[in-house]
Amino acid sequence: MRIRTNHLRASLLATATNLGAREKAVTLPSGPAPHAKPDSGWALVTGASAGIGKELALGLARAGWRLVLVGRSAERLEAVRKSLAGPRAEKAVALRSDLSEPGAAARLYAECASRGIEVEILVNNAGSGVFGPAVDSDSADVEAMISLNVTSLTGLSSLFGRDMKSRGGGRILNVGSFAGLNPTPYFASYAATKSYVLNYSIALRAELSGSGVVVTCLLPGYVRTEFDGNAGIANSAYLAFSNANSLDAATVSKIGLTALRRGGAWTIAGATNRLAAAFFAILPKTASPRIMKAALDRILASKGKA
Ligand SMILES: NC(=O)c1ccc[n+]([C@@H]2O[C@H](COP(=O)([O-])OP(=O)(O)OC[C@H]3O[C@@H](n4cnc5c(N)ncnc54)[C@H](OP(=O)(O)O)[C@@H]3O)[C@@H](O)[C@H]2O)c1
Repeated sequence: MRIRTNHLRASLLATATNLGAREKAVTLPSGPAPHAKPDSGWALVTGASAGIGKELALGLARAGWRLVLVGRSAERLEAVRKSLAGPRAEKAVALRSDLSEPGAAARLYAECASRGIEVEILVNNAGSGVFGPAVDSDSADVEAMISLNVTSLTGLSSLFGRDMKSRGGGRILNVGSFAGLNPTPYFASYAATKSYVLNYSIALRAELSGSGVVVTCLLPGYVRTEFDGNAGIANSAYLAFSNANSLDAATVSKIGLTALRRGGAWTIAGATNRLAAAFFAILPKTASPRIMKAALDRILASKGKA
């Protein structure tokens, strides 16, 4: 029995270690080439005003990239722009855009083109969630989330990806979620958008293979940001659980930037999340949502409701 348990643990660990690392990686220099044209070296980060996106922007600026910071709040973007440090930090621009609006991706692309900005690294990080029983969710909130998490991410990947392909190089980092690996009760539509992000990223990566454009997907688990509040989560027991099991945004951003540099297909942030993903991967598709629902119901019932 003991041998069998050890064997299962070893194979779970092996699966967890290999998840997301099955393809040969292509390493990106940590910053733009020293001989790069003075107007080159642009990295665009959506959702750069807070959370993971802000940390990704800070990290890319430190590595020498010129930043295009995108979000809805001009004030917060400006504060991030001023806080950037690095050799080209003062060249950063902030572009206000609500990426949940129809046509937002095309307008943002056109704005960059009109400024002569050639994006070499695209980070599709902006995203939102809608938490609670799916049948009780506000349909306008769900539509806005799908437009942001799916439609704009797809549009930006396609528009900037086309330019990268014609130039023979570029990087796209799409921020998915651990939740996208499995059907997730109470985050049903959010998790489904993140399944889309993962599958779309892997397919796009395959299409672009050999073109010099590399697509990577980052899958964070719980992260201490404004995400839970913005998703309408008020249950204190859930928030305590999420907080206790979370990584901070700076750690997740470091994992994301390493993944971007290495150019693997996808990476799950955090050893515990990788182990949990490996565990769920060996279960039948319908088992993980049943397990998660039972666990969430217990947590949610301990104080307040979803
Ligand atoms: N936190 C987590 O537990 C967690 C776990 C897994 C995956 N993720 C994913 O990680 C990504 C970043 O999330 P986060 O945790 O850093 O969340 P956050 O703290 O809520 O930050 C979200 C960022 O996206 C921007 N944003 C939101 N709606 C937007 C819109 N309609 N148009 C343009 N920008 C918008 C926000 O800026 P403005 O408000 O100024 O627009 C902000 O900069 C998301 O894709 C999320 O799904 C998060």
